[in-house]
Amino acid sequence: ALATGPGKQTQLREVEGVPLQAAIVDNWGQIQSFEAKPDDLLICTYPKSGTTWIQEIVDMIEQNGDVEKCQRALIQHRHPFIEWARPPQPSGVEKAQAMPSPRILRTHLPTRLLPPSFWENNCKFLYVARNVKDCMVSYYHFQRMNQVLPDPGTWEEYFETFINGKVAWGSWFEHVKGWWEVKGRYQILFLFYEDIKKVSEGPFTTSSGGGQRTPRLIEGCISWRQGMSPRIHSHPSDPLHSYPQDPKCEIRKVAQFMGKHLDETVLDKIVQETSFEKMKDNPMINRSTVPKSIMDQSISPFMRKGTVGDWKNHFTVAQSHRLDELYRKKMEGVSIDFCLEL
Ligand code: A3P
Repeated sequence: ALATGPGKQTQLREVEGVPLQAAIVDNWGQIQSFEAKPDDLLICTYPKSGTTWIQEIVDMIEQNGDVEKCQRALIQHRHPFIEWARPPQPSGVEKAQAMPSPRILRTHLPTRLLPPSFWENNCKFLYVARNVKDCMVSYYHFQRMNQVLPDPGTWEEYFETFINGKVAWGSWFEHVKGWWEVKGRYQILFLFYEDIKKVSEGPFTTSSGGGQRTPRLIEGCISWRQGMSPRIHSHPSDPLHSYPQDPKCEIRKVAQFMGKHLDETVLDKIVQETSFEKMKDNPMINRSTVPKSIMDQSISPFMRKGTVGDWKNHFTVAQSHRLDELYRKKMEGVSIDFCLEL
């Protein structure tokens, strides 16, 4: 049973300078000695970066677009959360051990705290990054409603806590930088929340297309992200006509990474089923079964807004400049390119 209300157990403790929930720290030995297997796929995110979204996408791919199979369990139970601990419930490690291979697992750990066997077994890592400003806003509202995390205080107070990395799972900068830097050495697919959003909100090609797409298609998506404007209105005779605006780009990349070959119609279905609106109404996803003593959704819903650029409704101009400045310092020499509005 969880202590809630006055005196609730929300204090964070640290492992090598990274704040974590006390139950996770208490279970640290078990987490570090976790035995990964070579065919494990690990979903890695900093909190509030679109974990639930990518989990649903991955599960839909795994189940070949079968919506009913994706309803088999609550999303938070489908992919064991390796560092999770809330005794007397089975820990994330125990749930992972009980899962048949090939396993899909998830974590919020920064690279330097990841159980070493993931590196040793050269597992596949699927990382999703979200721009720091929206991530901070999302985390702030999450800590307001989550009764087992510290109270965030005022927005001004939270801004300081967050930029100093004093939130659960530590500094956004260290997390993103750490995963970005190991990218060339391991099997990592590095995705951006903003790209998946752009895709799912982008103009939909109604024809299901069919046929084989070329690898150039994938490159096309990348250059779109890097600032190429989507060729929305190009003429059908244009040889590049159907690629930069393809709504399924990111989902197709994930499927390829997972070694799955899905029909265009299945990819179309996954795009539709993983939209914010659909997921918000899905009781297997929206945490509606989580007790109010853990998540009080009357304060802020778990599926809150799902947009890019909500930071503009929270940051003062001064805060925005301060964060830009800090970003430049902390991410110096890191060739990563975030999109802050669509
Ligand atoms: P907001 O608080 O900005 O709405 P996580 O799953 O890592 O906790 O991330 C939660 C964030 O992802 C929330 O952001 C949530 O709304 C957003 N999200 C979840 N599903 C989404 C979807 N299908 N499309 C867009 N955003 C989604």
